[in-house]
Amino acid sequence: MKGPATDEGGAPLRVLHVAAEWFPAVKTGGLADVVAALPGAQRAAGLDARLLLPALPALRAALGGAVEVARVGAAFGAARVALLRGTLAGSDVPAYLIDAPWLYDRGGNPYLDPDGHEWRDNPRRFALLGWIAAQLAEGALDPGWAPRIVHAHDWHAALAPAYLAAHGTARTPLARARSVLTVHNLAFQGRFSIDRFAELDLPAWMAGPAGVEFHGDMRFLKGGLMFADRITTVSPTYAREILTPEGGHELDDVLRHRADRVVGIVNGIDDAVWNPATDAAIAERYDAKRLDGKAACKRALQAELGLAPRADAPLLAVVSRLSPQKGLDLLLSALPQWLGAGGQVALLGSGEPALEHAWQAAAHAAPDAVGVRLGYDESLAHRIVAGADLIAVPSRFEPCGLTQLYGLRYGTLPLVHRTGGLADTVVDADESALREDRATGFAFTGAHADALAQAMRHALDGWRHPGAWKRVMRRAMAQDTSWRAPAARYAALYRDALGLG
Ligand code: ADP
Ligand code: GLC
Repeated sequence: MKGPATDEGGAPLRVLHVAAEWFPAVKTGGLADVVAALPGAQRAAGLDARLLLPALPALRAALGGAVEVARVGAAFGAARVALLRGTLAGSDVPAYLIDAPWLYDRGGNPYLDPDGHEWRDNPRRFALLGWIAAQLAEGALDPGWAPRIVHAHDWHAALAPAYLAAHGTARTPLARARSVLTVHNLAFQGRFSIDRFAELDLPAWMAGPAGVEFHGDMRFLKGGLMFADRITTVSPTYAREILTPEGGHELDDVLRHRADRVVGIVNGIDDAVWNPATDAAIAERYDAKRLDGKAACKRALQAELGLAPRADAPLLAVVSRLSPQKGLDLLLSALPQWLGAGGQVALLGSGEPALEHAWQAAAHAAPDAVGVRLGYDESLAHRIVAGADLIAVPSRFEPCGLTQLYGLRYGTLPLVHRTGGLADTVVDADESALREDRATGFAFTGAHADALAQAMRHALDGWRHPGAWKRVMRRAMAQDTSWRAPAARYAALYRDALGLG
């Protein structure tokens, strides 16, 4: 039967997600969460969604029931490349892993060597990812399966559309595949010297401005933007921002040329992983009808972080990478005022040493009001989101942002800069929103410490009115932050790209 999840023949629409991260095995940011949750939501909606990932050690270790579907031989500097298929632990989504030990069998960060520099051979490592995606779409690798939609995520997979375009219409199954490129963060572009172009095995003309070249370098993401049939990003506001010089990270001109192909679709969150009613990581489970559990989570968090055990102190959380993007320097500037008004802060993060030190110093100066944990800790992230009253996301730019969505789900009111996905997912508790029971948090305009401080004063006012605060909590918790609606939007986009709209 034909429907929104099927191709023209009524078969489940075959979609290949191509990415370098997958939660929980390999994660440097929200990309991993999206790649882990969206294909499952699509399968639940009737699509035949699968994954293609490099066989990084943690992914190889997570792959169960592996069979070798193709032996590619030597490619991209690797003597031995093979394609495995299986399922990743905890998931029922079929996953293809590119087994190329020379390129992928190394520990640590997927992009950086132990000294924090890009791996020297990153052009080849991620070219292979895009190339295999195109080979699969051509029906050259798995005799039993070829995608109609190649859905590439971020610069890591962005050459997949270029390889599809390079191979042209010569092969029939390929002529029927369409590509979608999702930009999770335009700041990361996969930028390399153009001298490395020969390593990519793309036609010579793609070394020019109509291909991957940009201002004398090559940028994988730019190549993807040139050739993808559809370009998406992770919120409608960010989709507009990237078309402007302020938000375009130099690629706004390229994007404007393709503006009719650019769409914003807000992310969901995995509602099995992030659900206060079932969360095994938190002190007590709760939901909108039984909020007592949340008070217990706050007490437990205060005890864990050594904060004063005060129910009346508003506790503001941060769970974040510590990079300039995230605006946590602004929060440091506004901190004295917050603490002066009796507020507390719980921060979990890692990243730039200067920011780590500054936050550590803030915790030393006021240990009973500021709790800081440096590092990456999935379970503590849950306890912080559940135990806090507010979650701050003062990012300078934010394509979507996931932690404010966790906040909504957990009744932990987001306090956000009105940018990108933050602007699309949080309704500021101004008078009219409060009157109409639409408010879900606090938002400020302009990435300045003063604007943030003002929003914090607004939040403090709100905190002094517990009845109104609870109403906002309930409204926040009633938001649909699941993947259901976004999954349906992607399905409609795929059908449109295939001319089935
Ligand atoms: P970005 O991808 O730009 O970092 P997102 O908000 O989309 O931002 O996603 C960040 C993800 O990483 C969230 O799942 C968040 O909980 C998680 N995260 C960030 N820092 C930490 C940390 N120090 N410990 C645990 N989880 C973290
Ligand atoms: C990127 C963005 C973030 C987004 C995530 C998942 O890392 O910085 O805003 O939520 O990707 O799409």
